[in-house]
Amino acid sequence: MSEIKSKYTEDEIKAMSDEELARLGTELDGVTVAYRKERFPVEGDPAEKRAARGVNIWFALSVVFGIAFAAVYLFWPWQYKHLEEDGLWMYTLYTPLLGVTAGLSIISLGVGAVQFSKKFVPEEISVQTRHDGPSDELDRKTITALLNDAWKTSTLGRRKVMMGLAGTGAALMGLAVILPLGGIVKNPWKPKAMGIQGDGTLWTTGWTLTEQNTKVYLGRDTAAIAEEHDGHYSTQGVNRLVRVRPEDLDAGGMETVFPLSEDMVNDGDRYDPTRDVYEEHMHSVHGSRNAVMLIRLRHEDALKAVQREGQEDFHYGDYYAYSKICTHIGCPTSLYEQQTNRILCPCHQSQFDALHWGKPVFGPAARALPELPISVDSEGYLYAKGNFIEPVGPAFWERKS
Ligand code: FES
Repeated sequence: MSEIKSKYTEDEIKAMSDEELARLGTELDGVTVAYRKERFPVEGDPAEKRAARGVNIWFALSVVFGIAFAAVYLFWPWQYKHLEEDGLWMYTLYTPLLGVTAGLSIISLGVGAVQFSKKFVPEEISVQTRHDGPSDELDRKTITALLNDAWKTSTLGRRKVMMGLAGTGAALMGLAVILPLGGIVKNPWKPKAMGIQGDGTLWTTGWTLTEQNTKVYLGRDTAAIAEEHDGHYSTQGVNRLVRVRPEDLDAGGMETVFPLSEDMVNDGDRYDPTRDVYEEHMHSVHGSRNAVMLIRLRHEDALKAVQREGQEDFHYGDYYAYSKICTHIGCPTSLYEQQTNRILCPCHQSQFDALHWGKPVFGPAARALPELPISVDSEGYLYAKGNFIEPVGPAFWERKS
């Protein structure tokens, strides 16, 4: 090409080939190509075919691992299994397999892309001096030509197999990100059968069973796990939840309790070492709206307690049971301070007054903690006299209270 000018007429630009424009672009930008060499100047070179095969293998591996990820996600048995339950080994492999297949798919795609640029994009060393200000019309034309030239010399245009494999690999990799979102596509308002976690809607909990004439005790979490019997582990006779008596708590103490329905009881006089209610107990502990704080106020404080209208008989003497689910955005309000009778949510520091029906006194929470009506039965165990009279936890669209 002739000497570089600073301005070119429309006709002069039109007369130039992409290659010339690309070169002109680099020169006008103050870029000097110090060294440039095509990897395979002659089409059909056997070395080029070998290189293409190598790159294709990486992209093909990316496709294979992408498909494997989708297959594991859709078909692998993912349901939880206990120790020694059939299928535990397969279940244990589920998460690692998702990680390994997704990871290998991404790595293969990355290695393929790096290999491609190392083996096919021309070797080039360019030096550029910086300048300020916007690009003019000529610059924009030349950069387009530069990109066209890069596309042509990359040989990607005639590598249909490689492009297909890389494209499929990239699509499957995208799928690996999108597929797991399928697990959260469900109707949150569709009720299931009522159980120890409620019926799945936001306004029910395990305590809602009291509305179906089921006796529900306040169950303490013992944190017990499977026990070894004759060389193997079993949850038979192991109680995760046990019933609570008033004397189990000291004055000024707090205990987290979960719903323990009549049919799940296996303690005290009713203990049967051959029964296995462990899984049911764990369902109760895992119920996201089930946790309740059972508080035994110090007697002198309890004398000052103020009852909310309609909840006057919800407490049992000095014992009060408040939902543990914060009415701000649902953290566990775990911290009860007996000196001040305040319940603190550690997430955003909301505070609730245990002497005033759990009403919020500080922080972002705007609703009182729902109170569970409780009493003690003839055997001396604490149980729920009924359900909460309002939904537990934070606000949601249909909530009225
Ligand atoms: S969730 Fe309790 S204060 Fe925010």
